[in-house]
Amino acid sequence: MEWIQLENGVKMPKLGLGVWRSGDRTEQSVLWALEAGYRHIDTAAMYGNEDAVGRAIKKSGISREDIFVTTKLWTDDVRRGRAREALMESLARLGMDYVDLYLIHWPAEGYQKAWEDMTDLYHEGWCRAIGVANFEADHLDALQGVSDMKPLVDQFESHPGFANQAVLDAVLARHIVPVAYSPLGKGKDLAGNAVLAALARKYGKTPAQIVLRWELQRGLVVIPKSSNRERIRENTGIFDFKLRRKDMEAMNAMDTGTRLSADPHHLPF
Ligand SMILES: NC(=O)c1ccc[n+]([C@@H]2O[C@H](COP(=O)([O-])OP(=O)(O)OC[C@H]3O[C@@H](n4cnc5c(N)ncnc54)[C@H](OP(=O)(O)O)[C@@H]3O)[C@@H](O)[C@H]2O)c1
Repeated sequence: MEWIQLENGVKMPKLGLGVWRSGDRTEQSVLWALEAGYRHIDTAAMYGNEDAVGRAIKKSGISREDIFVTTKLWTDDVRRGRAREALMESLARLGMDYVDLYLIHWPAEGYQKAWEDMTDLYHEGWCRAIGVANFEADHLDALQGVSDMKPLVDQFESHPGFANQAVLDAVLARHIVPVAYSPLGKGKDLAGNAVLAALARKYGKTPAQIVLRWELQRGLVVIPKSSNRERIRENTGIFDFKLRRKDMEAMNAMDTGTRLSADPHHLPF
């Protein structure tokens, strides 16, 4: 496992397990991930599985402080000014007294007030770091001066079909740690892609490992979702090889600008 240091000194593993739509397999998936060496789990109030994440972490027997847990403030709670209440509800479901990272899930109306509240929650010790998700350059700029904190992390959509380079550049320029969600493009184009198949043969890796490695080399943390034991393990095999520059460029050329999730400037929820 490799780690990246946030600006406040907190260390975040560069690989995490995403659990969106893991459903009733969440608890087992988290247990398999911890067994395979993951120490970073990405959940959200909206995923409806914080309780299963908390149960798995307890069952694993691994110390709470050795696992990096992220959860997120849903849009309804941003709009209703409920950051404090929502975090307390998340902590109760997780069975924890702090999370490692608390994110504003989307830039819904009211996100500046939410940021002010999250800053208070951070200073009170309920979260070791705070950040945002789906924030673009203008959203990040709108947080300037709202509190004495800037986001430590921005989590946004990034995969070969939608590299999202402009947001990555904006985030890196602000010394914010970038996290790629849907890093595998939701698994849709992994098996049938000729570029990935050729690179997988060349490096003796799988297409998923090639894609995750490309994200790491672009400077992103990755949080692939799987509820399959073998694929959870497979996705850890990304720290023992390096893609050469021309292969990175071949991957960059796969970008078609096609989003799989909502446009942060036009929220449908
Ligand atoms: N902040 C946000 O707004 C936001 C939005 C979306 C996602 N996220 C976070 O990011 C995480 C990951 O994104 P995602 O779930 O959208 O998609 P993803 O991780 O890109 O892809 C997950 C899909 O790929 C499959 N898969 C996983 N490993 C594989 C492998 N080695 N080979 C082939 N297929 C593989 C999975 O199937 P199996 O389970 O069957 O293996 C699943 O169908 C989420 O779970 C969530 O935590 C955040």
